[in-house]
Order: sequence, then C-alpha cells, then structure tokens
Amino acid sequence: MSAIRPAAVVVLAAGEGTRMKSAIPKVLHEICGRSLVGHVLAAARELDPENLVVVVGHAREKVTAHLAEVDAAVRTAVQEEQNGTGHAVRVGLERLGGGVDGTVVVVCGDTPLLTGATLAQLVAAHEADGNAVTVLTAEVPDATGYGRIVRDGVSGVVTGIVEHKDASEAVRAIREINSGVFAFDGQLLAEALKQVRTDNSQGEEYLTDVLGILRGAGHRVGASVAGDHREIAGINNRVQLSEAGRILNDRLLTAAMLGGVTVVDPASTWVDVSVTFGQDAVVLPGTQLLGGTRVGEGAVVGPNCRLTDTEVGAGARVDNTVSYGSWIGAGASVGPFAYLRPGTRLGGAAKIGTFVETKNAVVGEGTKVPHLSYVGDATIGDYSNIGAASVFVNYDGQEKHHTTVGSHCKTGSDNMFVAPVTVGDGAYTAAGSVITKDVPPGSLAVARGQQRNIEGWVARKRPGSAAAKAAEAAVRQGEGEG
Ligand code: UD1
Ligand code: MG
Repeated sequence: MSAIRPAAVVVLAAGEGTRMKSAIPKVLHEICGRSLVGHVLAAARELDPENLVVVVGHAREKVTAHLAEVDAAVRTAVQEEQNGTGHAVRVGLERLGGGVDGTVVVVCGDTPLLTGATLAQLVAAHEADGNAVTVLTAEVPDATGYGRIVRDGVSGVVTGIVEHKDASEAVRAIREINSGVFAFDGQLLAEALKQVRTDNSQGEEYLTDVLGILRGAGHRVGASVAGDHREIAGINNRVQLSEAGRILNDRLLTAAMLGGVTVVDPASTWVDVSVTFGQDAVVLPGTQLLGGTRVGEGAVVGPNCRLTDTEVGAGARVDNTVSYGSWIGAGASVGPFAYLRPGTRLGGAAKIGTFVETKNAVVGEGTKVPHLSYVGDATIGDYSNIGAASVFVNYDGQEKHHTTVGSHCKTGSDNMFVAPVTVGDGAYTAAGSVITKDVPPGSLAVARGQQRNIEGWVARKRPGSAAAKAAEAAVRQGEGEG
C-alpha cells in the first residue's frame, strides 16, 4: 500500500495499564472482536514494514502468546522494567541489532483507532521533508495528560515535546498534542536515545526528549497533523475502551452502508472487524454480528440476532436467533427464537422455526423443523418435515450418537428419535412415537401405547365433582339429541 517501506515498526506494549483495573493486560482488551494491540498491528501491517517488533513487559507471557496467535511474524523484545517510552524503544531497536538503516515508525499498543492510511501519510511526509523525526500530532478538545507540541513562535517549527506533568501553565494551554506515533531516521534515533536522561518528574527515559535532542544537533524535526483527533486516542480506562468501540463500530457500519448494506439502526447494531456482507443485505435493530460472520446478498438478519462465525446465504431470513459456527443456505428461514449451535448446516430454503435448537446437524434442502424441537447429531435429507416437539435423543449418558432421517419423510409430532437410528426415504412416523428401531423407506412407524378408554371412571371415582357433573350433562344431552 505505501510506496515507502519502513525498515521497522516498533509497537510499545510493555506498560501495565493500571487504570484499566483489570487482570487482563491492557493491550489484550478487545473492541469489535480484536485486541487493542491486534488493531495496531493490523494498521502497522498496511505499511508492509521489513520488521515488526512489539516491546512487551508487563504480563509478557499472555501478551506474547496472543501475539503469536494474531501475527506469527511479529518479533517481541522484552523490557524487563518499564523505565519509560525512550527506554522501551531502545529495547525494541536492540532486538533488531541496534541502529537500523531507514525509517523506524514507533506506535503505542493502545491506540486501536489508528489507521494504516494515517501511518502511511506520516511516513510519506517524513520522507518527503527529509526529517530526522516526524511526530503525528492532533488538536484535541482536552489535552490533559498528553505531551504538548511546542512550536517556535515565529516559524511554527516544532521545537520539542513537553510532558503534561513537566509542563508550565503556558505550555499546558497548548491543545496540539503528541499522539505517541513517530517516524524516525533509524540511525539518528539510536544515537539520540543514548543521550536521553531521566531528570523529569517521572524519573523515566522519555522518547519525546529525542525531538529536542535531534533538533539541538541541527537535524530537521517535523510534525504531521492527524485529520481526526479521535483516531489517535489512547485507551487508558474502560470508559475510553467503550468510546473507542463505539467509534470503530460506527466506522465499520458506515463502510458497510456505503457499500450497499441497509443497517436500520446503527446505534443498536454491533459488528466485528472480520464480518462481511453481500449487496442489499439488511440488518434489523438489536443485532450483533461477530467473528467471521458473513451475511449474503439480500439476506435479512434481525431484529435481535447474535450470529458468531455464521454464514448466512443469499436471501435467507434470520429472526431473533443466536447462532455459532453455522451455515445457513440460500433462501432458508430461521427463527424467531432459534438457537443454532456449531456444525449446523441448513440447505437452501430449509426452515428452522420457533424454539428450535440444532447442533452438529445437516438439514437438507427444503426440509422443515418448524416448532419446539431439538435436532442434535443428525442428518436429515431433502424436503422432509419434522413434526412439532421432536427430540433427536443423541446422548445415552456416556456417548453421543447419530440419527439419520431420509428425504421426503413426514415424521409425526412429539417424536423421540433414539440414536443411533435411521428413518428411510419417504417414511412416515406416527405422532407420539419413540423411534428406537430403524424405519424402512416408505413405511409408517407407530411406536406408542394403544389408547384404552375406561368408561364411567369419573362418575365412580370422583362423584359429585365438577367433572362428573359436566360428563353427566354431556351424556344427557347426547341422549336427548339421540
Ligand atoms: C505518552 C507520551 C505523551 C503522549 C502520550 C500519547 C512519553 C514520555 N509520553 O504518554 O507525550 O501524549 O503517550 O498517548 O512518551 N510503554 C512501554 N514501556 C515503558 C513505558 C511505556 O512499553 O517503559 C508503553 C505503554 O505500554 C504504552 C505506551 O508506551 O503503550 C505509552 O506509555 P504511557 O505510559 O501510556 O505514556 P503516556 O503517559 O500516556
Ligand atoms: Mg498512555
């Protein structure tokens, strides 16, 4: 994507993130289905850097394990003690053998809204201006806590960065802040880091001091102003986490809508970064689309669906449904109030109706399971109808077993299919049957007690009751009519 390939991107992720008040390291908290550091890595990857190094420290085992999962090519550098951002970058460069020729980009692991495009713009400005360092800045409404960008009053050239804690009142009034994202000349950065001192209010090695050091040595220092200050927001607490989640969700939904998807209520619709849509898909209110979910062309999902890693075929209709790891065929209908569990595969135009749960179930084309049923560990052929209130009895208390129902079958209501069992093509089963033996193709299986009527039982056993009186009246009326 970027014309200029940086020599390295160094991601700082060694800090503890105390203000999150969490047992989970800050950079592993998620928005839109991806960790904070995962978002930063995805943006960094768009630069196609020769090296990508993440500096880890606090909870490094957890962070390192996560990094291996999301981006196996990432290298990690361990910062044993968190002595400041300057120290962290030094540790990162050491992992690359010290000074690096070319551009080194530094980003923090807690800025999930930063885009690859903004990083590319920073690198392009840095190289075009021939700077030793270029800092990404932004004007923010409230600069509290941030390092302030100090510029020469006459030329407007950046002269340095002053941390909030070290700043005078005059400097604190500046609203242009350091985003924590920089492009450096790799060799000059390594040299300048050797000169960074710790005589500041936090007793830390500040990366920001590198600007003043390079400028003092006569090098060019520049700034690139981000178009949208929200993009550079660092996450320090759970309020900011949720605000960033909302912003990213809006960004994803806006892209979907501009791409031809109808989202009726973006405020109550949540999507993960890896969700995709076909043209004219419609998302109704109260819906969460998570993981690798795809909503096909013209499909309608919602209201109130939570679909995780679910493929919704073209033109399918999914209403008030929870689904994990399922595949819904084109034109199929699911819900309201269905629960699809992993391994569900619904053929084209199939129907899973109200209060139906499926798991590891292959349901053929045009087959219907309309009401109040559990279909677990089953294969059902095409154009069959499963009666209301049926249970595929898959568990004997020790093991799970499989049931097969053929094509063009009509099974009665309130059937138990006690697995392992097979119902052949074109077979029928009677209502209320407990099917324990295979049913040959084309047979009717009846597996229930014969009905026995004990006449006059109520009059004898419940004399004088309302039931007895009602029965007596019915009999008298019947005699009158006869
Ligand atoms: C830093 C900047 C500040 C800027 C702000 C932007 C410095 C000295 N200050 O302040 O100018 O406005 O970010 O959000 O650079 N980290 C390490 N090792 C350390 C210290 C920090 O890896 O020893 C990592 C943290 O995990 C974090 C990042 O560096 O990802 C920034 O550290 P943080 O402590 O949040 O710096 P701020 O005080 O926010
Ligand atoms: Mg910070």
